Amino acid sequence: MRAIVFDRFGGPEVLTVASDAPEPEPTPEEVLVQVTHVGLNPLDHKIRDGSSRLASQLELPAGTGREMAGTVISGGADLDDSELGSRGLAPGTRVFGMRPPGDLRGTAAEVIAIAADALSPVPTEVMHEELPRWAGLALVGLTAISAVDDAARVCAGDTVLIHGGTGGVGQLLIPMALQAGASQVWATGRAANAQRIRELGATPIAYDEEDWEKVIEEATEGRGVDVVLDTHYHSTFLPSLDHIAPGGRVVPLPTLADLTPATERGITAVIPEITVTRERLDRLVIGLREGHYPLEVSHVLPLEQISRAHELLEGGHTRGKIVLDLDA
Ligand SMILES: NC(=O)c1ccc[n+]([C@@H]2O[C@H](COP(=O)([O-])OP(=O)(O)OC[C@H]3O[C@@H](n4cnc5c(N)ncnc54)[C@H](OP(=O)(O)O)[C@@H]3O)[C@@H](O)[C@H]2O)c1
Repeated sequence: MRAIVFDRFGGPEVLTVASDAPEPEPTPEEVLVQVTHVGLNPLDHKIRDGSSRLASQLELPAGTGREMAGTVISGGADLDDSELGSRGLAPGTRVFGMRPPGDLRGTAAEVIAIAADALSPVPTEVMHEELPRWAGLALVGLTAISAVDDAARVCAGDTVLIHGGTGGVGQLLIPMALQAGASQVWATGRAANAQRIRELGATPIAYDEEDWEKVIEEATEGRGVDVVLDTHYHSTFLPSLDHIAPGGRVVPLPTLADLTPATERGITAVIPEITVTRERLDRLVIGLREGHYPLEVSHVLPLEQISRAHELLEGGHTRGKIVLDLDA
């Protein structure tokens, strides 16, 4: 089968498509899935270039990708067809999901073995053309739930500032913060993305045209916001600390973020940790189905263009998601 592999850490060029990769054997609680689409995330290029903490646990050659959509082929020893059926995962069912954090095997392969609990069925009415969005949903969706609910604990009446409102995670942070009861949400992004931020329900601040700190200062009359959800971090984390109201929280997304400058000032700072559960995946299904989470897919590329896809990812300005189509 075809699978993307890399045998050394490095630039996008280390990724190659193997045509003779061995088909995986599922463990008793795993499901074999025929993958149709693979969602990509910045974590993929951080693992590939060796800069992620996870890279040290990886055995090379390795696969790439953390999430996907596809069709159930069969279950492992503990998952016969009737057990799979009772979980809504009968053979032939279209599913989406992601590798749990400790499972470093890739998803960019024609067939993968993946934990049954890390999958949820795609609603039957979803058209095949819509599958890229489902393939790109799990990782950013579960991250956004963790950021809003577990880390920031956004509650009714909170004012929220999101840095990077139209990235993969940002496009879900906006509607989820509003669902949690935020009274006002501002989101930074380039001016080119302002309209999209407005459509998602937030007030845009074009960081390439205006001084976002001044905008927040004036809009909150110097009080600052209750919550900052920072998907960018590099140039935004430190200045954000000057615009957080008493009792406020800051949630940087990158796992290597240094929280010390916040905690030294008595500001609660938490990096979200993804929890992969069927319950949370099903919440994403409802959100997407009912139109609350209109996650955008900006690029659908064939497997062979994985290096190009990583170049785009590394640019740091992805709008929504980049997805691989294995049948293209
Ligand atoms: N903790 C976790 O478990 C976890 C899970 C998922 C992701 N992450 C991390 O979270 C980060 C974001 O992930 P993602 O998938 O959303 O990335 P992404 O899709 O690449 O989005 C990046 C966003 O950053 C924005 N941005 C770039 N420069 C900016 C600046 N100077 N000020 C404000 N915004 C800026 C971009 O907006 P413009 O295009 O408008 O500039 C874009 O919206 C990554 O570092 C990723 O590794 C962590």
